[in-house]
Amino acid sequence: MREIEKLLEKQFKDLKLGGLVPNYKQIIDKAVNSKLNYHEFLSLLLEEEILRKDDSSSKRKIFIAKFPFIKTIDTFDFSYQPSINEKEILNFSSLEFIDKKENIIFLGPPGVGKTHLSIGLGIKACMSKYRVIFTSASKLLEELEVSLKSGILTDKLLYYSRLHLLIIDELGYMPINKNQANLLFQLISMRYERGSIILTSNYNFDEWSKVFEDTVVAAAIIDRLVHHSKIFYINGTSYRIKNKLVNIN
Ligand SMILES: Nc1ncnc2c1ncn2[C@@H]1O[C@H](COP(=O)(O)OP(=O)(O)OP(=O)(O)O)[C@@H](O)[C@H]1O
Ligand SMILES: [Mg+2]
Repeated sequence: MREIEKLLEKQFKDLKLGGLVPNYKQIIDKAVNSKLNYHEFLSLLLEEEILRKDDSSSKRKIFIAKFPFIKTIDTFDFSYQPSINEKEILNFSSLEFIDKKENIIFLGPPGVGKTHLSIGLGIKACMSKYRVIFTSASKLLEELEVSLKSGILTDKLLYYSRLHLLIIDELGYMPINKNQANLLFQLISMRYERGSIILTSNYNFDEWSKVFEDTVVAAAIIDRLVHHSKIFYINGTSYRIKNKLVNIN
């Protein structure tokens, strides 16, 4: 390796621009071929590093968010699910709802794409540098109960209240006792008008009494969630059984 190359690589690393080491020669070639002047060359080099940093920041945010799987809005087949307005979902993809601290609620039976759309929006948010966490309702409640027992509930609630977007998936698959409802109420109250929530449930609100032991607290939770929210009622058939001959009657 030439002395100047060794020096350059050391300088990139000293400046924490190590990502340029495998790429800078290619950028020089491009600059030579396109006859770029010094200003243009420097800008191209910095642009490369900005793109790389943005990409690794998005990847880190997606990793931290703990999505159970990766799904994007582009891979959602809206023609299969006409009860969802594609334009509305695409509008929400602009993520204005996060800046306005609004909520999105997906209600519908199994397999209609509630989790897929939530993850798709969550990934968009991570790519736009928002802090996101994805969790299931049962995991979240378990975590809050453990925090209460170990005396760190306030810290845990503060942690959740600082996120830009909290995705709570699958509310309704497990019954929620009084204690858990109380913890959930505290969390929803803390985020109310301060940060967005995407919530998915297989039950419509008028059926939440089947899930919550304490219907008074359930009503208070619904009240806060629904104020400043968009509710998507999805009523199609499960994508999981698409093209499968299944008779469940
Ligand atoms: N319209 C769609 N286009 C493409 N894939 C879809 C569509 N709807 C659902 N899927 C896929 O079908 C599977 C089930 O969807 P998803 O997990 O989002 O359903 P859900 O509504 O959350 O169901 P559940 O209530 O059982 O959790 C996923 O792999 C998802 O990517
Ligand atoms: Mg789901």
